[in-house]
Amino acid sequence: MSSVTTSSLQHVRQGNAGPVLLFVHGFPLSHQQWTAQISEFAKTHQVIAPDLRGLGTSPLRPGQTKLTMEDHADELATLLDSLQIREPVIYAGLSMGGYIAWQMIHKYPERLRALILCNTRVVADTPEQAEARFQLAEKTLQLRSPQAILDVMLPKLLPPKVNPAIVDAVKQMAHQATPEGLAANLHALATRPNVTSMLPNIQIPSLVISSEFDTISPPSEMGQWAAMMPKARFISLPGIGHITSMEAPELFNQVVRENAPW
Ligand code: MLT
Repeated sequence: MSSVTTSSLQHVRQGNAGPVLLFVHGFPLSHQQWTAQISEFAKTHQVIAPDLRGLGTSPLRPGQTKLTMEDHADELATLLDSLQIREPVIYAGLSMGGYIAWQMIHKYPERLRALILCNTRVVADTPEQAEARFQLAEKTLQLRSPQAILDVMLPKLLPPKVNPAIVDAVKQMAHQATPEGLAANLHALATRPNVTSMLPNIQIPSLVISSEFDTISPPSEMGQWAAMMPKARFISLPGIGHITSMEAPELFNQVVRENAPW
């Protein structure tokens, strides 16, 4: 595995043949969320897994205090440019990685060959949810720590009986980011748009993966919007919470291999 520093996002690149497969992580995580997928799919694909701006090891740009999902899509396009990747890519995004996918589809459709949309949503935050995120951002800046985010989010990200090593990995990823990076990303989450009206027009072959115990993006909600996408296949994994790629990596990989939308 090679970890590369460029003026654009920090990222891992592995595998040198086959289609490009871009793995985009959730909040408050990093590319390490995809560790089990990077090693598996590098056997058959050119895998790229960035740390999103302000998360993991990708620092905010100088003076940056707020981000949007569109900013993240622009950063991903810049990363692909810097790697001289001109061919359309398979885009796999989980949760916030999915929120960014909608902006990629909107702004850079020619760069997308297929989509794997995992544990994600199409609606915006309610005003109450957005306000709670802004307050969490304030608290994170005051405490200079991701602790307030972890207190609120860990019970939603992972089910109670999950392997403690996964809890530790999630904490470690959140602690890699700076308080400013976390706050800027909370702004992106709170201000993301409702994209429901886009769905019937998305002609990109898509695999939509949900899971039984996901309370952030429940399977009933995901099934409803997946049915509005003309070329989407919907699958719900039993007995798993929100971060499917980490909680059930082998099942996740098998489902992607067997239902590959490319
Ligand atoms: C994520 O996993 O990216 C976040 O939980 C998404 C969210 O809080 O809406």
